[in-house]
Amino acid sequence: MSKNIVLGVTGSIAAHRAADLASLLTKAGHCVRAVMTADAQRFITPLPFKTLSRNPVIINLYDEEEGWKPAHIRLADEADLLLIAPATANILAKLSHGIADDALTCIALALNDRARTLIAPAMNGRMWSHPATQANVAILEQRGAEFIGPEKGLLSCGYEGIGRLWPVDQIAQRVTSLLS
Ligand SMILES: Cc1cc2nc3c(=O)[nH]c(=O)nc-3n(C[C@H](O)[C@H](O)[C@H](O)COP(=O)(O)O)c2cc1C
Repeated sequence: MSKNIVLGVTGSIAAHRAADLASLLTKAGHCVRAVMTADAQRFITPLPFKTLSRNPVIINLYDEEEGWKPAHIRLADEADLLLIAPATANILAKLSHGIADDALTCIALALNDRARTLIAPAMNGRMWSHPATQANVAILEQRGAEFIGPEKGLLSCGYEGIGRLWPVDQIAQRVTSLLS
């Protein structure tokens, strides 16, 4: 059955892989609404997300092209799932502290009660292992967010370690099982 998925894309070198995720989830019949942080747009433009999801992309809080209601509130009201992939160390810190300074963080705070949250982190291994990041993950898990990954491997920063984005086909499978 078709579900409303908000796909949050943040400023990781893995951001381009979220385009495949948008495509997989759209082909699975879901309504995918991509929301990009300002930093995500340094890595990939909104165009692939618009084309592959067949929906407008939210790129800032002040995009109000779709009626009177702020787009971030409408998306938060309608979402069945908030999927953040890739999720930076920065977004984990912002979410765990309730910071709401862009469209994605506002949606996360305004999310309706029935919506699930799935987070797929991607970052340098030391950023992931840092006690600050691990504490943020623990807080978010306590509030009901689910995590997928990161996995071990050769990281794009040149180091071997834990921090790679989980394979996107497996993220899509997890979405299917969470939403069924
Ligand atoms: C080339 C490059 C790659 C980066 N990759 C990552 C990454 O994979 N994970 C991460 O947490 N931060 C990464 N960063 C740092 C983030 O882009 C930075 O913390 C930014 O403020 C994140 O903003 P956002 O969370 O609002 O998207 C990278 C920065 C650069 C310049």
